[in-house]
Amino acid sequence: MKKKDLDWGSLGFGYVSCDYRFVSNYENGAWDEGGLTTDNTLVLSECAGVLQYAQTCFEGLKAYTTEDGRIVTFRPDLNAERMANTCRRLIIPELPEGRFIEAVEKVVKANAAWVPPFGSGATLYIRPFIFGKGPVIGVAPSKEYQFRVFTTPVGPYFKGGVKPITIRVSDYDRAAPRGSGHVKAGLNYAMSLFAIVDAHAKGFDENMYLDPETRTKVEETGGANFLFVTKDGTVVTPKSPSILPSITRRSLMYVAKEILGLKTEEREVYFEEVKDFAECGLCGTAAVISPVGKINDHGKEICFPAGMEKMGEITQKLYDTLTGIQMGRIPAPEGWIHEIA
Ligand code: PLP
Ligand code: COI
Repeated sequence: MKKKDLDWGSLGFGYVSCDYRFVSNYENGAWDEGGLTTDNTLVLSECAGVLQYAQTCFEGLKAYTTEDGRIVTFRPDLNAERMANTCRRLIIPELPEGRFIEAVEKVVKANAAWVPPFGSGATLYIRPFIFGKGPVIGVAPSKEYQFRVFTTPVGPYFKGGVKPITIRVSDYDRAAPRGSGHVKAGLNYAMSLFAIVDAHAKGFDENMYLDPETRTKVEETGGANFLFVTKDGTVVTPKSPSILPSITRRSLMYVAKEILGLKTEEREVYFEEVKDFAECGLCGTAAVISPVGKINDHGKEICFPAGMEKMGEITQKLYDTLTGIQMGRIPAPEGWIHEIA
């Protein structure tokens, strides 16, 4: 199969319309079989649930080309499980896990020419989503939905690749206590737009959100969980009921403990203790692991010892091991690599 003629190395994190997408509709109480289409547009009722009351959720995962030329995805079963969990929270009919994985397989296979080659620094980002398409005007769940999966080849989420970034402590909250922060609802991202536009305008790459109830504990950023490393080499990640359970973070904590033999802690992390950590990174499908060099707290700077030029030593080890597993260079724990072609 001939790959598309793209300059893979210069891709940022943006939308490029690939040849195929998968579409399945929920009508009369059931999901139809669905199938591939080349049409990247939609016609919707002006009164669709997604347009009126933001009834929509999404997932994000990637397809990788391994060193020996296979196309694989990473733990898609966990994306399927998380999407089902989000659906329950938003009164969207769940899609069975098997159907989710089958759709991902079909769309990636059909777009194999768009999967960036091994070593190019790019990957194929896969975006499954479900939205209410039936009309609603009184506040209520829609009766009809669409599940859609498209793909887009992407490079690094943050400009500058894996160079450390600067983030700021946000004055806005990402999620309410007992709200929707633990699920991947589109509305969480709508709520974060004001804060991210403002952060970028002021020269910051991302926002650090604190817990909305006491504003003393670290939660996450707009699109990634935090990992910290203590001066004695323990990997620490915040535990909170209002952060998204990142698949990358759960995988990295396993890698840290079981493969690298490091001490790990998932616990509440007070902002007050952040200045004492040796390393800080953001982790997620899009972010992979993006090292944080500096945190700005209303003009007061916390600068991590590794500086602004390179990742800290343990962050680098975690990055190398995770990407090594995803690209097939390092043996994966059972069930982590899902072969597509
Ligand atoms: N936190 C938020 C708010 C996110 O949007 C994402 C992205 O999916 C993550 C964390 C990272 O999750 P994952 O590693 O499953 O991509
Ligand atoms: C992902 O990492 O897949 C996400 O959904 C994060 C988003 C901010 C791009």
